[in-house]
Amino acid sequence: MAPPTVFSLAVVTALAPLVLAGGIVTDPKFFASQKFDYIIVGGGTAGLAVASRLSENRQNLVGVIEAGQHFPDDPLIYTPALFGRTQGQAQYDWLLETVPQPGVNNRIMDQPRGKILGGSSALNYMAFDRASSTEYDALTQFGGSDWSWSGLLPYMKKAETFHGAQVTTPWNDPSAVDTTYEGTTGPVQVSMNTWYSDITGPYLKSANNVNIPSNITPDDGTPEGVYNCRMSVNRTSGRRSYAANTYHTAAAPRPNYFVLLQAEVTKINFAGQWSKRDNVTSTTDAASATTDTTSADPTSTDAAGVANVTSADAASANASALKKAPARATGVTFVYGGKSYTASVNEEVIVSAGSLKTPQLLELSGIGDKRRLQRLGIPVVSDLPGVGENLQDHIFIPNSFALKPGFTTFDILNNDPVYAAQANATYYQDGSGIFGATHSAFAFFDLQTFLPQSTITTLLQNAVRDSSRSNPNPLEAATFDQMEEFIQDGVTAQLEIIMYPGHFSPSPAVPGTSYISILMALQHPWSKGSVHINSTDPSKPPVIDPGYFSNSFDLKVMVEACKLARKIAQTKPLSDAIVSFQDPPASVTTDADFEAYIKGAVESVYHPIGTASLGPQNLSGVVNSRLVVYGTSNLRVVDASIVPLHMSTHLQQTVYSIGEKAADMIEQDCGN
Ligand SMILES: Cc1cc2nc3c(=O)[nH]c(=O)nc-3n(C[C@H](O)[C@H](O)[C@H](O)COP(=O)(O)OP(=O)(O)OC[C@H]3O[C@@H](n4cnc5c(N)ncnc54)[C@H](O)[C@@H]3O)c2cc1C
Ligand SMILES: *[C@@H]1O[C@H](CO)[C@@H](O)[C@H](O)[C@H]1NC(C)=O
Ligand SMILES: *[C@@H]1O[C@H](CO)[C@@H](O)[C@H](O)[C@H]1NC(C)=O
Ligand SMILES: *[C@@H]1O[C@H](CO)[C@@H](O)[C@H](O)[C@H]1NC(C)=O
Ligand SMILES: *[C@@H]1O[C@H](CO)[C@@H](O)[C@H](O)[C@H]1NC(C)=O
Ligand SMILES: *[C@@H]1O[C@H](CO)[C@@H](O)[C@H](O)[C@H]1NC(C)=O
Ligand SMILES: *[C@@H]1O[C@H](CO)[C@@H](O)[C@H](O)[C@H]1NC(C)=O
Repeated sequence: MAPPTVFSLAVVTALAPLVLAGGIVTDPKFFASQKFDYIIVGGGTAGLAVASRLSENRQNLVGVIEAGQHFPDDPLIYTPALFGRTQGQAQYDWLLETVPQPGVNNRIMDQPRGKILGGSSALNYMAFDRASSTEYDALTQFGGSDWSWSGLLPYMKKAETFHGAQVTTPWNDPSAVDTTYEGTTGPVQVSMNTWYSDITGPYLKSANNVNIPSNITPDDGTPEGVYNCRMSVNRTSGRRSYAANTYHTAAAPRPNYFVLLQAEVTKINFAGQWSKRDNVTSTTDAASATTDTTSADPTSTDAAGVANVTSADAASANASALKKAPARATGVTFVYGGKSYTASVNEEVIVSAGSLKTPQLLELSGIGDKRRLQRLGIPVVSDLPGVGENLQDHIFIPNSFALKPGFTTFDILNNDPVYAAQANATYYQDGSGIFGATHSAFAFFDLQTFLPQSTITTLLQNAVRDSSRSNPNPLEAATFDQMEEFIQDGVTAQLEIIMYPGHFSPSPAVPGTSYISILMALQHPWSKGSVHINSTDPSKPPVIDPGYFSNSFDLKVMVEACKLARKIAQTKPLSDAIVSFQDPPASVTTDADFEAYIKGAVESVYHPIGTASLGPQNLSGVVNSRLVVYGTSNLRVVDASIVPLHMSTHLQQTVYSIGEKAADMIEQDCGN
C-alpha cells in the first residue's frame, strides 16, 4: 500500500494525504486543481482501457472521473457463478429502465449499467467473444478502413491474455493458443471454464443434429457454429477479470494517473480556441478549419457551463455550419458530494460513459439535435441530429425444459445445500469448481440454417417495409441496407443460442428439479430506438426507448427461434434427457401463442450500441474515424456508443478493442 514513489510531473505535489494508494483521489478539490492532459468521463470498460494506455506515457497527466465506487473484494462481483446478482442494486447499477414498450405489452424493461469502477465489465456475465470478420469489415463504410477486422484484431489481441483450454472440454477445445488471433500479453485474463454441466454433451450433439456444427476456432473471424465461449475469468484465482482489476490496477501505481470516484460529470465545457490540433482532419471529418474564431480564455468557464457559446451557437445556426471553427473542450463540470467543481484539460476530453449515458452528457453539453436542445434552452455547441439515435440492442427469449433426475446443472446450488457448501469451500480453496464457472455453450447461425428460403424472403420483405416506414436517418438507412446483405449472405449469424445449464426463465423453478434453458437471442435487430434527455437536470435519467418489436421482423424471427429451441429439445440425444417443457409451456403451439409468450417474456441482453455512431457527418454520424465528435476539435467518444451496426457477439471484447485503438489514435494525434 505504498504511495507513488516517482513524481515526474511538477503539478503532482503533496500527494500523500489526497490520494489513496492506487491512484484513487479522495479530494475533489485536489482533482479539480490539476491541469490534466486528458480527462476520461467514465471509468468503465472502454474508459479504463483508454486511460490506462494513455498513462503509459508519463508525459500525459490522466484523470478519470467515475460516478460509482470501487469494490475490489466483493464476492458478488468476482464469483463467476454469481453473475447477475449485482443488477438492480443501487451501489453497483445505474438502475436505468426503458419507457413503456408498446411492442412488448407496454412493459418497462430494465437496462442495467455498471455504476462502479470497471463499469459494465464489473456486472457483465463474462462471455468474451468476437463477431465475424464480415461484420467488423462492414463498419468501414461508417468509419473508414481503420475499423475493419484487420484494423481491430490487433487491439482485441492487445486487450487479452488468452489461456486456452485447461481441462478437456465437451468440445475438445485446444489448449494451445493460436497467436494469429489470440493475445498472450494483454491485461484481461481470458480462459475457458473448468467445470461443465453433464447436459452440455447431449446438447452439443442435438445442436449438431439440427445443422449447427461445432466450432473450436471461433476467434478467427468465423464464429458460426456452436462454440465454447471464452470467459473473462482469471483461472488462477477463479475470479472475474475486468477493467478495474486489470487496466486500472496496471495504471494505479503511476504518478500521472488519477481516478476520482463517486463524482458525476454533468457537462463538458467549451471555448472557441485554436491550437495546432484543431487542424487535424481525417477521412470522414467534414469539418474544415477557418480562421474567423475569436479565441476565448479556456480557463474562463465556470461551474455553470459553456464558455463562448454565443459564437458557436450562431455559427452552428449558419447553413455553412460544417465550415465553422470546431469548438474546443476546455474541461468538465462534475458533482461530488452535492457540490459542483470544474476540472480542465490541455488536450482532450474523452467521453466513455457508455451507450445510454454518453448521449445524455453530449446533449446536456450542447451537442445533439439543435431543435431538441433549443426546446430545453441548452445553447448549441454542435448540431448533430444523430446523437442518441440509432439505438440498437440484443434481445433474447428463454425456452426452458425440465430434465430427468441425475443431471448436474447450476440448479444444484439451490437444490442441494451440502453440495453447494462443499463447492463453495472448493472455490475458496483454489478458485475451481462450479462457482468458478458460467454458462459457455453459445451458438451463432444464419436464418438459412433452419428456415426455408421462401420464409426468409417474406421476413426480409417485411423488415424492409417496416424500416422504411420508421423514418430512419441516413445512417440508420445505411445500416438497414447492410443488414439486408447480412441476411442474404447466408453466413452472418442472425441468431445466437445461449445455453444455460440451469433454470433461466419466467416461471419459477420447481424445487429439486434441474433444467436446461435455451435462450434465443436476436443479433441484428431491425427495431431501433433512441435515448435522449428530456430535462436539463443531469440527475434525471435519460429517456430510453429501444423500440423493441417496432419492426415486425424481430418478433417473427423470435417465433421461429422458439420453434427451433423446441426442435432442439425434441432432437436426440437431448430429447432423452428432457421430461417436460417449462417455458413456454407445452400448451403454446401456434404462432399466435408463441408471439404472446415472447411479448411477455423477452428481455434485453444488455448490449445497447449506436447512440454516438461512427459515420460521415452528412450521414448523421456523431464521431469521425478518429472518434472526434463533429463540430469539436478535442472531444472524443470512446465506448460502445460508437458502434453503428449491431454484431453477432457479446460486446466487451469489442469495447476493450475500441479503448485500445482509441488510445493509439489519441497518442498519434496529440502525443509529443
Ligand atoms: C448485466 C450485463 C451483462 C452483460 N453480459 C455481457 C457478457 O457476458 N459479455 C459481454 O461481452 N458483454 C456483456 N455485457 C455488455 C458489456 O459489458 C458492455 O457492452 C460493455 O461493458 C460496455 O462498455 P462501455 O465502456 O461502453 O460502458 P460501461 O462499461 O458501462 O462504462 C461506462 C462508465 O461510465 C460511468 N459513467 C456514466 N456516466 C457518467 C458520468 N456522467 N460521470 C461519471 N461517470 C459516468 C459509469 O458509471 C460506468 O462506469 C453485459 C452488460 C450488462 C449490463
Ligand atoms: C490472476 O490471479 C492470480 C492469483 O490470484 C494473481 O496472482 C494474478 O496477478 C492474477 N492475474 C491478473 C492479470 O490479474
Ligand atoms: C490551421 O489552419 C489554418 C488554415 O489552413 C491556418 O491559417 C492556421 O494558422 C492553422 N493553425 C495552426 C495553429 O496551425
Ligand atoms: C454564415 O455563412 C455565410 C456564408 O459563408 C457568412 O457570410 C456569414 O458570415 C456566416 N454567418 C455566421 C453567423 O457565421
Ligand atoms: C463461501 O465461503 C466463504 C469463505 O469461507 C464465506 O465467506 C461465504 O459466506 C460462503 N458462501 C456461501 C454461500 O456459503
Ligand atoms: C418529458 O418531459 C415533459 C415535460 O416535463 C413530460 O411531460 C413528459 O412526460 C416527459 N417525457 C418522458 C418520456 O419522460
Ligand atoms: C456526404 O459527403 C460525401 C463526401 O463529402 C459525399 O461523397 C456524399 O455524397 C455525401 N452524402 C450525402 C448523403 O450527402
